Amino acid sequence: MTDTPLKPSNGLKPSNGLKPSNGQRYRRLWGRAKGKPLSPYQSGLVETQLANVSIDVGNPLAGLESFKSISVEVGFGGGEHLLHRAQENPDMVFIGVEPFLNGIAKVLAGIDRGQLKNIRLHHGDVWQFLENLTDNSLDHIDILYPDPWPKVRHYKRRLIQEDLIGEFHRALKPNCALHFASDIPSYIDWALVRILGHGGFNWNVEGCLNWQEPYKNWPGTRYEAKAYREGRTPHYFKFIRDED
Ligand SMILES: C[S@@+](CC[C@H](N)C(=O)[O-])C[C@H]1O[C@@H](n2cnc3c(N)ncnc32)[C@H](O)[C@@H]1O
Repeated sequence: MTDTPLKPSNGLKPSNGLKPSNGQRYRRLWGRAKGKPLSPYQSGLVETQLANVSIDVGNPLAGLESFKSISVEVGFGGGEHLLHRAQENPDMVFIGVEPFLNGIAKVLAGIDRGQLKNIRLHHGDVWQFLENLTDNSLDHIDILYPDPWPKVRHYKRRLIQEDLIGEFHRALKPNCALHFASDIPSYIDWALVRILGHGGFNWNVEGCLNWQEPYKNWPGTRYEAKAYREGRTPHYFKFIRDED
């Protein structure tokens, strides 16, 4: 596969310097924390509504027992996919994890518009969300178009790393799915090596064009639309967590 150079959407921001309770240091959080100024409506939602739908990182699944299943989308960007899934599955809960405030504001507006009761948010880094998450507790994880970081010297900034895949394996229930989509060949290679190299995920591939088929009822995302505009091909992967 050849790589298409793509400028990351993000500027660089150092981490918030938090230290997890297990004594390790959080990795640096690369990316934009904020974009253009929020509208008064969005600022109002962040002030008044974000706390109501935010998970407690100390006990991230508290209060979600009544839902049929728990899905997590890491880096939801503008939230198109998260909102769509929540609308079509009112008996399931969808947790979105995103450090970018403008994305959080967009999802709050979508929750408000659709009067959705089944979205929870973590405004921050996926590592904070995972810190107190119990083993075998999630039914599904999505990583859709993670920031590509196409330069070799920036590969270490990529979201998908061996330790994160290990955490996803720990957090997912057996036989549950991790979805990963990307349009960046070097990232696809990178992710396949790490996810399959972990040894605890099975890649459900039924044919050579299987990865070109979007997931069922796929709404698309903003980054996918950008990929199409710029002539890149989306790839969709589904990995199933093993039984142990
Ligand atoms: C390229 S964008 C894709 C957004 C969306 N999934 C889409 O397809 O349009 C990647 C997103 O991942 C988020 N992100 C980056 N690092 C993250 C981290 N450590 N934890 C959670 N989200 C992260 C970024 O803020 C950004 O919104």
